[in-house]
Amino acid sequence: MTRIGSILEARRRLLGRNLSIAYEKPLNIVRGEMQYLFDDEGRRYLDAYNNVAHVGHCHPKVVAAGQEQMALLNTNTRYLNDLIIRYAERLTATLPEPLSVCYFVNSGSEANELALRLARAHTKARNLIVLEHAYHGNTTSLIDISPYKHDGPGGDGPPAWVHKAPLPTTKGGAQIVANLAAQLKPLCGFIAESMPSVAGQIILPDGYLKNVYDAVRAAGGVCIADEVQTGLGRIGTHFWAFEKYGVVPDIVVLGKPLGNGHPIGAVITTPDIAESFDNGMEFFSTFGGNNVSCAIGLAVLEVVQEEKLQPHALQVGEHLLSGLRDLQQRHEIIREIRGSGLFLGVELVRDTGDPATAEANRIVNRMREHGILFGTDGPSHNVLKIRPPMPFSIEDADLLISTLAETLFVLFRGPSRG
Ligand SMILES: Cc1ncc(COP(=O)(O)O)c(C=O)c1O
Repeated sequence: MTRIGSILEARRRLLGRNLSIAYEKPLNIVRGEMQYLFDDEGRRYLDAYNNVAHVGHCHPKVVAAGQEQMALLNTNTRYLNDLIIRYAERLTATLPEPLSVCYFVNSGSEANELALRLARAHTKARNLIVLEHAYHGNTTSLIDISPYKHDGPGGDGPPAWVHKAPLPTTKGGAQIVANLAAQLKPLCGFIAESMPSVAGQIILPDGYLKNVYDAVRAAGGVCIADEVQTGLGRIGTHFWAFEKYGVVPDIVVLGKPLGNGHPIGAVITTPDIAESFDNGMEFFSTFGGNNVSCAIGLAVLEVVQEEKLQPHALQVGEHLLSGLRDLQQRHEIIREIRGSGLFLGVELVRDTGDPATAEANRIVNRMREHGILFGTDGPSHNVLKIRPPMPFSIEDADLLISTLAETLFVLFRGPSRG
């Protein structure tokens, strides 16, 4: 049996069968370095979609911070230690007032769970408005608030306290949320990604989030921004995606990039909400806010700033967008290019108007053969997602565009517009 074959066999035997595997020819990845991954034969792949390795796979400063702290101390928040204070100060300095109180956990799911608890403690209500196709995490309550899961295979639909609103790009989308908010009594709140990613890298229409937040607050609810995918400068124009829309959420949920692969999640809220949550029940997470996580989290924030990764994301993202738009002129299958900074989506649609799901899958697999790693997103998995580690360079962008051009030409020669 081949090496890949024996790993696959062992996975089937030892691991839950509903773990998925990327690519028709699975990759055995053994090493990462900045925006590159290496397989067991030493072949290098350009990583164009793993957003967790935010400042680059195995960034030396982040690795050193983790190694040094592991050799010194790793314990929990019941002891005083300066690191968690420095981390909380540094993180809250990136956020607008009154977002100033932090809770540290170990994943985006844990952070969203905690956000739900905060919202419920503050409003004494459960009714929550969520967006169609949204994903917020893998726990029981988060499957309940994630239509992407509970409306999909194996799902049981939403419970009575979860109320689904259409995607923001739907005509009158904000008014639909406002109507729901006014009807639901009592209302706990509204949760959404500030740029829905699982739904297909969607940019919210102007004014949407402001109108929704105003209506939700007027009905007594709180507004939760899931920034797990969009935070830390990825969108280029702003450090947090909600800032693009001129709003300030009541609760912000952070995950993936915070630890550059080390499991860190965080919830940041207002003093008022934090006070409602401080109801006598201790909050404790064994690993949340441990010394190693804080050292790593701090190092990630420092690298983002020192290496000017936010303006870099904007510059490289603009370059990618212009290359992708050129391709769109030549290939009808590309219906829409959207995104900001290094958070981009390429929506593929057949000339019948149907989502080009199988075609997207062929593109992703052929790009992998050519050493470039993409994924798909969107309700029909027909959106190519491009959200690489932030050091992704102009040269990487050129390679991605020329490889995608060749792939589109070989797979779908016509019809051509140019
Ligand atoms: C928007 C969003 N929120 C929350 C989560 C859950 O994060 P985790 O997998 O770290 O629990 C994810 C994970 O994909 C996500 O994309």
